[in-house]
Amino acid sequence: MTQGDLPAVLRIEGVSFTTSWPANAFSNEIRDNKLAHYFIGRLDGHVVAYGGIWVILEDSHVTTIAVHPDYRGLKLGEEMLLKLLDEAIAQGASWITLEVRESNDVAQKLYRKYGFTTVSTRRGYYSDNGENALVMWAGNLKGELYGARLRALRAALAAEIARRPSTDSGHAW
Ligand SMILES: CC(C)(COP(=O)(O)OP(=O)(O)OC[C@H]1O[C@@H](n2cnc3c(N)ncnc32)[C@H](O)[C@@H]1OP(=O)(O)O)[C@@H](O)C(=O)NCCC(=O)NCCS
Repeated sequence: MTQGDLPAVLRIEGVSFTTSWPANAFSNEIRDNKLAHYFIGRLDGHVVAYGGIWVILEDSHVTTIAVHPDYRGLKLGEEMLLKLLDEAIAQGASWITLEVRESNDVAQKLYRKYGFTTVSTRRGYYSDNGENALVMWAGNLKGELYGARLRALRAALAAEIARRPSTDSGHAW
């Protein structure tokens, strides 16, 4: 993600979350935060997805992930999550965590597919409606078991991407 991607990112942000990050939140992350790694996904030349992580030694944290509503269900979110996991591992992380709204079944299903399990609940975490956050963790990212899981998921995803309709290259990034 670069500054030039931010108009498209903010459009997706605005239609994906009830409480949106302002432009300067993304700017600060990509310009100033040395622990942050942010990516965008393009399909047919358009920015359609983004995601970010922080990596602090052995621990990593998914800070955000979203796909434009018009492009959901095409495995773009999964492709982005895999990118974030690959980056976390490349940066040396063994563990990864995130918060997700208790009502966000779609995202939770994606996370569970990638081995995340709920370890705790943060009561009233979301200030807009007082909703609880589930705190999910996955790991050991560098372990044999997780490596095998990722290999199987990556192969299945590659097959799905090859079947993705109306794209120039099939790959979002
Ligand atoms: C969560 C989100 C990123 C998923 O992206 P997506 O591109 O639509 O999802 P994908 O097509 O990659 O699907 C991957 C997996 O997600 C889950 N999923 C996706 N759509 C789903 C649906 N309609 N119902 C249930 N599960 C669904 C499934 O586990 C799916 O894998 P499967 O098809 O093998 O079961 C997207 O819905 C989004 O941007 N939501 C709004 C922002 C948000 O909630 N972000 C997460 C904050 S914690």
